[in-house]
Amino acid sequence: MASYFYTNFVPTLLHALFVFQALEFCYPHALTNVSCIDAEREALLKFKQDLIDPSRNLLSWTGKRCCEWEGVKCNHRTSHVSQLNLIGRGLGGKIDPALSELRCLKYLRLGNNNFNGHLPNQCGNFKHLEFTSLSHNSISGHIPSTIGQLASLRHLDLSYNNLSGNIPESIGQLRNLELMHFGNNRLHGVVNELHLANLTSLTQLSLQSNELVINVSASWVPPFQIIFINLSSCKVGPEFPNWLQTQRIISELYMSNASISGEVPNWLLDIISNIELLDLSGDMHGGNNFQIMGKKDTTIKIGITFQITSMLTFQIHYVCYMHVI
Ligand SMILES: *[C@@H]1O[C@H](CO)[C@@H](O)[C@H](O)[C@H]1NC(C)=O
Ligand SMILES: *[C@@H]1O[C@H](CO)[C@@H](O)[C@H](O)[C@H]1NC(C)=O
Ligand SMILES: *[C@@H]1O[C@H](CO)[C@@H](O)[C@H](O)[C@H]1NC(C)=O
Ligand SMILES: *[C@@H]1O[C@H](CO)[C@@H](O)[C@H](O)[C@H]1NC(C)=O
Ligand SMILES: *[C@@H]1O[C@H](CO)[C@@H](O)[C@H](O)[C@H]1NC(C)=O
Ligand SMILES: *[C@@H]1O[C@H](CO)[C@@H](O)[C@H](O)[C@H]1NC(C)=O
Repeated sequence: MASYFYTNFVPTLLHALFVFQALEFCYPHALTNVSCIDAEREALLKFKQDLIDPSRNLLSWTGKRCCEWEGVKCNHRTSHVSQLNLIGRGLGGKIDPALSELRCLKYLRLGNNNFNGHLPNQCGNFKHLEFTSLSHNSISGHIPSTIGQLASLRHLDLSYNNLSGNIPESIGQLRNLELMHFGNNRLHGVVNELHLANLTSLTQLSLQSNELVINVSASWVPPFQIIFINLSSCKVGPEFPNWLQTQRIISELYMSNASISGEVPNWLLDIISNIELLDLSGDMHGGNNFQIMGKKDTTIKIGITFQITSMLTFQIHYVCYMHVI
């Protein structure tokens, strides 16, 4: 019986364990401690091949031990690449889709470079990706709808690129998303309630300086409490957005040049009780044209300075309350 157990059952069990590991391979099951996983090294080399590296930042990217390469970090126990950190290295060229072979990647930081090309369509492979910053590059093309599959995503910063097309509705599935920065691209189309439906964790949203129309109903209650929001130069109006009334912890609200011509509502005072910065300047046609700038001051609790571009009794009324904060 015992020998039957060892000759038949144990190998089956080991096989089952192996399959289990292969499925769940981003989590540490075994102490492997190899210096790099071959397929991931190949993916990194492919990524490097497409790059322009004038400052020769990636000189260390040779040999077998890819976990020791500049900007690469691996999980100590699984040896899978978990971080790629190449912010501001003067890198140019395309982001090779081979990068999506790095399936256990948690941090992808490629901001402040000169990357061009498109976002990889296969980005849905990055099931473990939590932090992505690609801001301040020249990435063009569309945001792939597979982005909605990045279920672990918490920070997504694509601002200051050359992205065009619509924002895919699938973005609305990202329950863990806390930060969504899409400002200063060439995105157009409508952002509606579906885009924001399940973003229960969202605290930072910037969509400014695209060609986006924000279209939600007056009765919409967002699933989030926002802290930072920039909708400048989006088409938000003509009405002042009613859903802001549900937001209680806003610290910075930028909504200049947002095509708002309706009245600034009375409840604005309620939502700005924590505010450090409020900017509603720009061409609001109804004449509700004002800007309040507050700056956190470490010596005094909050020192606020005002720039009122259009003197309306309504705003003066609110300004009087501001020193209470
Ligand atoms: C992995 O290898 C490094 C040296 O390459 C060593 O410092 C480290 O302790 C090893 N870790 C484990 C878990 O064996
Ligand atoms: C942005 O993309 C368009 C094509 O979609 C291209 O013509 C233009 O040169 C790009 N601009 C920059 C700054 O890369
Ligand atoms: C939001 O989540 C619910 C429940 O999981 C789901 O039925 C719905 O399709 C999701 N909506 C969007 C826009 O992703
Ligand atoms: C908000 O958007 C406006 C318009 O693009 C920009 O000038 C401003 O710097 C942005 N503010 C922040 C804090 O992102
Ligand atoms: C905004 O949404 C309403 C209701 O869903 C719809 O009737 C209207 O056409 C939409 N407007 C735009 C510009 O998408
Ligand atoms: C105001 O927003 C419109 C788009 O709604 C844009 O074309 C224009 O350049 C913006 N003006 C400023 C001063 O940002």
